[in-house]
Amino acid sequence: MSNKCRVCDAETKFVISYGKMPLANAFLEPSQYDKEYFFELAVSHCPSCKMLQLIDQPKPELMFHEEYAFFSGTSKAMAVHFEDKANSHIQEFIKSPSDAFVIELGSNDGIMLKHFAKNKIKHLGIEPSRNVAEVARQNGVDTIVEFFGKETAQKVLNTHGKADIISASNVMCHIPDLRSVGQGVDLLLKDDGVFEFEDPYLGAMIEKTSYDQIYDEHVYIFSVTSVDNAFAPYGLEVFHVTPLETHGGSMRYHLCRKGAHPIRQSVIDQKAKEKSLGLDTYETYEKFAQSCEKNKKELVELLQNLKSEGKRVVGYAATSKSTTILNYCGIGSDLIECIYDTTPIKQNKFTPGMHIPVKSFDDFYNNAPDYAVLFAWNHAKEIFAKEESYTQSGKNWITFCPDVKVA
Ligand code: TYD
Ligand code: ZN
Repeated sequence: MSNKCRVCDAETKFVISYGKMPLANAFLEPSQYDKEYFFELAVSHCPSCKMLQLIDQPKPELMFHEEYAFFSGTSKAMAVHFEDKANSHIQEFIKSPSDAFVIELGSNDGIMLKHFAKNKIKHLGIEPSRNVAEVARQNGVDTIVEFFGKETAQKVLNTHGKADIISASNVMCHIPDLRSVGQGVDLLLKDDGVFEFEDPYLGAMIEKTSYDQIYDEHVYIFSVTSVDNAFAPYGLEVFHVTPLETHGGSMRYHLCRKGAHPIRQSVIDQKAKEKSLGLDTYETYEKFAQSCEKNKKELVELLQNLKSEGKRVVGYAATSKSTTILNYCGIGSDLIECIYDTTPIKQNKFTPGMHIPVKSFDDFYNNAPDYAVLFAWNHAKEIFAKEESYTQSGKNWITFCPDVKVA
């Protein structure tokens, strides 16, 4: 394990280890248990560029491949979110739709770019997972199957020219080599172009102790301060930010070439908030590590008590995030009998590491448990509305973020 910052090479400071961890999306069958991959999930903070980062990380090829299990289109709220994002880009940053060019990195199943396709705006999705890219193509979204970096940027520059917008959602924090991204964006972005991305926000994670945002795919948890520092060497700066509700608290960063757009008040205000939250000081992360330990203890105690009372407890949604919770807390099928999930390729498999069975929702409705642990807590509003009859029949929800509680 190296303690060198992935972004600026300074010595980082160790924050917490969540122990031996599998890949968050490596749902598997019992025949695969003996070759299951594990790594140590641990986090450090860079005192110089302020980036919170994974110390060790599996190779991206292990995580984003032919069988990538995450399809953006599975949540209705997310579909609306990405339609709004496409429309706001078209209104604010596209001057002339007929000669505009929009790139999305990690375009998944085309959930956002399809709105550009619909408006006949030239676009290109760059997506490393073939199965989701195939769905995007079926949706009429031009997509190439590649990882993004300097080399892909050069290829796209040669074939398509420079971009007005380079966008990415829940992707930038997946890319270990931000330097190559910075170089790629520098190559591809028009002089007044906008490089925009959104990811789970460090401020929200610290405020909510939502440590389940930390897993193999999230190599960074960004703040405005750390993003500004990371891309400054490539002549880029953050000129506007928008806090978002998605993924339990995200931030949308708009960057441009230095001086190309005036720095908006949103950036000044958010940086001030980050200072007052202490995101630049190590003590904040020491406290965060203690809160994680406390949360773990309370969740395990609650589940053990319910078990001793003979209650039936299941999980709701086999999210990537749940892999960190289950493995760090050591929760297996003795405490949570199964997890229900809408994703067909997760169903009838077992969760990474703890091997809890994943089932389709039919069973949840036919044979309702006493308690359901809400692993998709970030979609609580949508789920509580959808599952009103479960709640009204006197059944219970368990949430663990920000605090462990029965709702
Ligand atoms: P999300 O919080 O977006 O996931 P992640 O932590 O993986 O980023 O939730 C997506 C997962 O949750 C996916 O496996 C489908 C499942 N899910 C349900 O099963 N039912 C639901 O109502 C929702 C919103 C998600
Ligand atoms: Zn650094």
